[in-house]
Amino acid sequence: MKLTVIGAGYVGLVTAACLADTGNEVMCIEKVSSKLETLRKGESPIYEPGLSEVLKKNISNGNITFSDNIDEGVRFAEAIFLCVGTPQSDTGKADLSQVEEAARQIASISDGYKLIIEKSTVPVNTHRRVKMTLNRYAAPDAQFDVASNPEFLREGSALYDFSNPDRIVVGVESERAEQIFKDIYKPYTDQGFPLLITTPAAAELIKHASNSFLALKISYINMVSDLCEKVGADIELVADGMGYDKRIGRPFLNAGLGYGGSCFPKDIKAFINMANENGVDFTLLEEADMINASRRSKYLEMIEDILWINKDKQICIWGLAFKPNTDDIREAPAIDIVGELGEAGAQLRLFDPKATENFKNFYPEGGNIKYFNDKYEALNGADALLIVTEWSEFKEADIEKIKSLMQLPIIIDGRNIYDPATMKEAGVEYYSIGR
Ligand code: UDX
Repeated sequence: MKLTVIGAGYVGLVTAACLADTGNEVMCIEKVSSKLETLRKGESPIYEPGLSEVLKKNISNGNITFSDNIDEGVRFAEAIFLCVGTPQSDTGKADLSQVEEAARQIASISDGYKLIIEKSTVPVNTHRRVKMTLNRYAAPDAQFDVASNPEFLREGSALYDFSNPDRIVVGVESERAEQIFKDIYKPYTDQGFPLLITTPAAAELIKHASNSFLALKISYINMVSDLCEKVGADIELVADGMGYDKRIGRPFLNAGLGYGGSCFPKDIKAFINMANENGVDFTLLEEADMINASRRSKYLEMIEDILWINKDKQICIWGLAFKPNTDDIREAPAIDIVGELGEAGAQLRLFDPKATENFKNFYPEGGNIKYFNDKYEALNGADALLIVTEWSEFKEADIEKIKSLMQLPIIIDGRNIYDPATMKEAGVEYYSIGR
């Protein structure tokens, strides 16, 4: 099929690459020219395992092309995925100006039938607004369906998630639109992955409700971890025990520094906002979001309690990305931790396998901030090591080497990646969360 994807951000690019890889002809529209040049060379502007390879393959076989011309994109295909940004506004509400702008542009050049697909995360009933805009600005002979087809892609495993979905959700209002989706997703439904056909409003809600529920689950386990600390139980064992219950499940029961990234913090706020606008008081989620924010301050208090005075301490931080396997630092706990410790006068030695460049743009090198290309080098002479992101290379690190390089073998683990008994045996002064 011929498909157009508007917006080559995280979601747009992964969607375009994966749909091209199942044999569709995909045109991806991106208005930032520097990004376009990178993409045309088959390079991914974001770090996502496997993405460059899939892009290169599908550029060379002609399945994917890139353009900055939205008119060209609209003429190219009947089905158009909207993957533009929906950032958070100052009030917590989603800023939908890019969605509206794209709808107006599509309308102005459409004739005949077009299926407009919301892929970006949007508040419930945005499809109505999109449809209204399309109809207002389009020529009389243009005909539109607007559908919602939310993504559930985790950064770092987005290609896997796209190709192995727990479910594909499409919210449609016509049989014609339903059939287009059945064709697009046939390679997946043929393998047995479930396709849920629903209404656009339900599909929009499924996305926000799912992310908010996962955020709630994380805040829940973090509160249980506080209780574990008080009563002398191990949160890892508690989470394992809970997770065996199929109704609960072990994923997203990892206590630690809480959630960050481009989705959960933004989505939960947008969902609360949307509930309020509709007269539903969702203080349950407000509480979950507040608990999440408190994780970072709690960790900082823990550091101060252990080190007493942070000023002039050599503190090594392993992990700057908001989670492993990504270079994304949006809403990363490391931002707050580095900010606070830096202000307290600590000498910071930072390492991350992928996110260093992005972090440098936020906190440039200099003063009391130093970046390292090697995790062990960053440890030289450190008074303490903070684990802020659970990259596997940290899990596999050589404990004896860590000890020999540090001035004091103190590890404050915000992600519970080491076993306390092993650390004790190795002579490390080891602190972790909820254990
Ligand atoms: C998320 C959703 O999972 C995905 O479906 C959605 O469409 C986009 O948002 P992502 O932000 O890439 O994906 O990361 P995810 O793996 O879900 O983790 C989100 C945050 O929660 C991270 O900061 C992570 O460290 C944190 N987390 C996750 C925990 O603190 N504990 C857990 O048990 C799991």
